[in-house]
Amino acid sequence: MDKKKIILDCDPGHDDAVAILLAGKNPKLDLLGITVVAGNQTLENTQRNALNIVQCLGLDVSVYAGCRQPMIRKKMTAGDIHGESGLDGPVFEPLTRTLEPEHAVSYIVKTLIESDTPITMVTTGPMTNLGMAIRMEPRILDKIERIVLMGGAYTNGNVTPAAEFNIIADADAAYVCFTSGLPITMVGLDVTRKALCYPEIVERMDKVGNKASKLFVDLMKHFCKSQKEVFGWEGGPLHDPITIAYLIDPDVLTTKPMYTEIDIRSTQSYGRTNCDYFGYLKKEPTADVAIDIDVEKFWNMIEEGLHLYD
Ligand code: RIB
Ligand code: CA
Repeated sequence: MDKKKIILDCDPGHDDAVAILLAGKNPKLDLLGITVVAGNQTLENTQRNALNIVQCLGLDVSVYAGCRQPMIRKKMTAGDIHGESGLDGPVFEPLTRTLEPEHAVSYIVKTLIESDTPITMVTTGPMTNLGMAIRMEPRILDKIERIVLMGGAYTNGNVTPAAEFNIIADADAAYVCFTSGLPITMVGLDVTRKALCYPEIVERMDKVGNKASKLFVDLMKHFCKSQKEVFGWEGGPLHDPITIAYLIDPDVLTTKPMYTEIDIRSTQSYGRTNCDYFGYLKKEPTADVAIDIDVEKFWNMIEEGLHLYD
């Protein structure tokens, strides 16, 4: 069966790192490139983190730096969770991998336009790079098979009561993506908060005993500690790799088509993914919104993904 071609746009970020890990060696996926955006930390940090991750894992995939701030609003970061570096915890070898010279937005446009088969765009950070690419060259809409994003929530947010970080960090870019007419799978906090990386999960993955499991353990030690400090949870919600797990095996999620609109106008609810769960508005659905996750299957997929490394 042909591999599914994907571009992963991310803001590493501990959970972004696990998304890269899960995508990097999976036989069903062809990870064409990694594009990086400011989000969890500044672009200088997220781009360096992406290079450290691919170098540590020995992944032969190019990394492109993208937008260093949102399309319109002020930049925000999540140092309380990911630390000053954006990837506090793991200690990496001296970095020798380098960024590609091309800007991520140009790379996304060029790769899509030149591709003779559709490509899935996976975003696990603010959607600035993809939003800019769509505005820069609308012809790419014919080449994108689907947007699979970690972001939003039809219940509560994690930055305000209404809004989740990846969306509120660049709600205008999210608005561009959600009004593009493209098929969308939205993996929101509603399901990611069920994938809590408890200590027993970390112990289980540590037993894999290779470089990938060591990175996973080092990442989760920091990620879970900060999630407990901020949210009081015993395990950190492993948000981003669920997008990759869904592409590997869609049965890991239950989704429901919903008309979904990004709130870019209100004050209290700015950045909310307004999901019409009950169809009140009688509008055509614009996203397949994840409403449940097979948590056991997900952790099995993470463990299997770790085993694909030496
Ligand atoms: O709200 C969680 C999301 O914001 C995750 O993608 C995390 O990495 C941050 O980007
Ligand atoms: Ca992220």
